Amino acid sequence: MYDLVIRNARVHSFRDGIAQDAAALAVRDGRIAAIDPPADAPARRVVDAAGRMLLPGFIDCHTHAVFAGNRMNEHAMKLAGASYEEIARAGGGIVATVEAVRKATVEELVAESLPRVQALAAEGVTTLEIKSGYGLSAESEMNMLRAARVLGERLPLSVTTTYLGAHTVPKGRDKNEYLREVIDALPRIREEGLADAVDIFVERIAFDADDMRALFDAAKALGFRLKAHTDQLSNMQATRIAAGEYGVLSCDHLEYTQEADVRAMAASGTVAVLLPGAFYFIRETKKPPVDLFREHGVPIAIATDINPGTSPIASLLAVMHMSCIFFGLTPEEALLGVTRNAARALGFDDRGVLAPGMRADFALWDVPAPEFLLYQLGGLRAEKTFIEGIEA
Ligand code: NIG
Ligand code: FE
Repeated sequence: MYDLVIRNARVHSFRDGIAQDAAALAVRDGRIAAIDPPADAPARRVVDAAGRMLLPGFIDCHTHAVFAGNRMNEHAMKLAGASYEEIARAGGGIVATVEAVRKATVEELVAESLPRVQALAAEGVTTLEIKSGYGLSAESEMNMLRAARVLGERLPLSVTTTYLGAHTVPKGRDKNEYLREVIDALPRIREEGLADAVDIFVERIAFDADDMRALFDAAKALGFRLKAHTDQLSNMQATRIAAGEYGVLSCDHLEYTQEADVRAMAASGTVAVLLPGAFYFIRETKKPPVDLFREHGVPIAIATDINPGTSPIASLLAVMHMSCIFFGLTPEEALLGVTRNAARALGFDDRGVLAPGMRADFALWDVPAPEFLLYQLGGLRAEKTFIEGIEA
């Protein structure tokens, strides 16, 4: 007896490319029990999909969806010609959001972030990574992570959290002292189960490769998964170190990545997470080396990077579209970038494709083909979403 059978669907399992490869799917205990189950298999609930397309749930594997306030003023400066780095050096950037986040309670953070997360869910996102990084004190960082966990409890969506205390150095603080504090908070964050992974922003306006080593040594010993923001504005050799020495799950941004970095990623199986929304919003012109990723077999994922400073974009479909237009990804690469490869970027082996034993996270779409999602921009919503087999 199955809990649920979806029939009369165009099922694209993504097990082997994105073509349609089934017409029905069965769920038991929140997992996919069968692809194309027998026509007479008994089920508690049968859904006639009326020919709708059924795709794996999307995974937004890099977000800063929890924050307070906005940075519209910086956007105006940017439109008037200032660069992201100039704005950050002038006291804007990440630290501007920190003030708003420190004032907010967990409940306020949840309330402000909820509409952003709901917008992502409406586009078929069933797994969402959320980073801290705007508290920049142990207590405030933990509040951000708590807010992220609450969102995961309140919404029909799987939330995975990442501690990004090393996002930048708070105003008036010594970098080394602050980094020590970030590292010292790790055991408590682990004990309270607040974060699944640890991340760092390696950049001229944030931390360097040695800082990353110190953080990762401590985080790895405590069993955290590792990820890094690298090569967004410059190449500080962080990608080759993160991949080569730590085998991180993913390196993210990668506009300034070089072949030596790509080789290290290929050797360690590190996923390249591309963030075309940030590229677009800060009007970056240097593109990530997509051809090198392909040539060396580095898996590519796409994410919104939704945040108040460089990517105020609450649409995974929009950034997937940008990945094709700006970075030259094929529609298939964009789709695998928010499913199979995004799962890998988060260290999940139970989602991203539809196959027996995997989580029953999927969505029904009223569109002619998967590629349509990379063609029309705007106005597309998943018709029904299922999380662990339960309709959202
Ligand atoms: O992923 N690169 C660093 N962190 C964010 C930007 C954060 C901000 O400006 O608020 C990013 O683009
Ligand atoms: Fe980011």
